[in-house]
Amino acid sequence: MKNFIPIILSFLILSCSKGYNPAVVSARKEASDIGIEIMKKGGNAFDAMVAVHLALAVTYPIAGNIGGGGFVVYHTSNGESGSLDFREKAPGNAFKNMYLDENGGVIEGMSTLGGAAVGVPGSIAGIFEIHSKFGSLPIQDLFQPSINLAKNGFVVTEKQENALKDKLQDFINVNGKESLFSKNYKQGDTLKNLQLSITLDKIAKNGSKAFYEGDIAKMIVDEVQESGGIMTVEDLKNYNSVWRDPIKFEYKGLEVISMSLPSSGGILLGQLLKAIEGYDIEKLGHNSVESIQLMVEAERRAYADRSFYMGDPDFSKLPVYELMDDEYVKKRMESFSWEKATTSSEVSHGEVKVTEESDQTTHYSIIDGNGNSVSVTTTLNTNYGSKVFVEKGGFFLNNEMDDFSSKPGHPNSFGLLGSEANSVEANKRMLSSMTPTIVLKDNKPSLIVGTPGGSTIITSVFQIILNIYEFNMSMQEAVNAPRFHHQWLPDVVIIEEGGIDSVKDSILRSKNYLVISLPIKVDGPGMSARSSIGKVDAIFIDENGKVSIGADPRGDDHGSVLK
Ligand code: DON
Repeated sequence: MKNFIPIILSFLILSCSKGYNPAVVSARKEASDIGIEIMKKGGNAFDAMVAVHLALAVTYPIAGNIGGGGFVVYHTSNGESGSLDFREKAPGNAFKNMYLDENGGVIEGMSTLGGAAVGVPGSIAGIFEIHSKFGSLPIQDLFQPSINLAKNGFVVTEKQENALKDKLQDFINVNGKESLFSKNYKQGDTLKNLQLSITLDKIAKNGSKAFYEGDIAKMIVDEVQESGGIMTVEDLKNYNSVWRDPIKFEYKGLEVISMSLPSSGGILLGQLLKAIEGYDIEKLGHNSVESIQLMVEAERRAYADRSFYMGDPDFSKLPVYELMDDEYVKKRMESFSWEKATTSSEVSHGEVKVTEESDQTTHYSIIDGNGNSVSVTTTLNTNYGSKVFVEKGGFFLNNEMDDFSSKPGHPNSFGLLGSEANSVEANKRMLSSMTPTIVLKDNKPSLIVGTPGGSTIITSVFQIILNIYEFNMSMQEAVNAPRFHHQWLPDVVIIEEGGIDSVKDSILRSKNYLVISLPIKVDGPGMSARSSIGKVDAIFIDENGKVSIGADPRGDDHGSVLK
């Protein structure tokens, strides 16, 4: 009988709902399972979001977090869509040249490693804000699975063993030999984080204030300041997440909803899709020379605009829809030729007039039985963030400050350049590429998608949308398919292994494209070592409401659909 209770409950939930099969896809099986459990208990997609976020903070410390930030894009069963920005902010004492030495040179590592790299975290504020607006279950119920998970431990996977080993020396340098992560963990070990379980328990009982004020806030500030940072308790106390209008645009009859500034994701996705809309890309074919050319040239122009125009919209008047205007995008593509690559030195940002005031990461996608859809990308920035581990609290702090432009012309960890719009300023949000996205077809959810991958996030989401709607792949095929990326500078096309054959490679080279096949083994100027592009976790809902998932095999990603 005991086994029947969950079955009966799921049946009841589905029969009371609008008939979607609830689904969760995330970077870890434990997190996806917890999300499904919450929905079995009657929670909605927003409840599941809170629980999944926390479970990733426990089991996926490389990017899952309470010491970082991110963005949520949602679409409710009532047809309402929106987004919440819980991006980190620069501390109140931050200033423009803080990463430069007395000769004006960028101090190597200062914006990536140690306390000076840390932005004021937004995740806890974000999940409480979401819960207070949309949650239906008590917050304690959403925290409890992760409190247990942190206390009882999770099993280290092979990929985790390698990632932890890779950063072990940094952990020892920043946190000392006795720190929880300054040990050699092997695949199959159970990693328990008692301090994190205590932290989560405190926050569950006392709310978001328990993180932003009081002893946890003090722990954070102490760790940051001891490792060279400038964050104060006031910075934490003043942190706020922001509801923002998402970017909305149409592509061949689909409605795309994505994140707006301070993420560049939605605007660039709009530019890219609009730039290719006039071409029959289905006919050109997936990863054909022609489709790669077309997409790369669109990417080159869009990333040049990103670099010049984009930053925190709360600090200056920045163009948004002006950059996605049909005429503007068409004009930008006028210099595109099938014969030969446009070199990036010939491409700069386009000219727009601001006509109106615009009002290792991980991604998870969720849909509940009523069709509430949630797309969340969250991060500590690079793997394990600043490596600063709040020992008494059991969590890593981000190194999101590296997403600012430390100096014009100086690339960040993802090779991205920035201008005045993204210079460091006190309390400002650093420009992001995170692109949590929902696609609607006939006003109903059709695709919930996003990925980590720094600058490659936007081009990965772009490719998933085309793989589904143009190249007619299933959700899992769309995620598995090899990806490529171009970002204006450096002027190279990076392509995953198996992405193109040698014939296509030489045709592209003959047209002046500098093609680099992954893996890249060592960090180079503006390009870090990598073996793949992104880890997409996505959900597709077909016209009959059938839900299918794509969990990226590039990671330990996992999804479930509740039948
Ligand atoms: O906000 C951004 O664009 C970056 N901080 C994202 C970092 C990221 O995706 C790292 N994952 N591979």
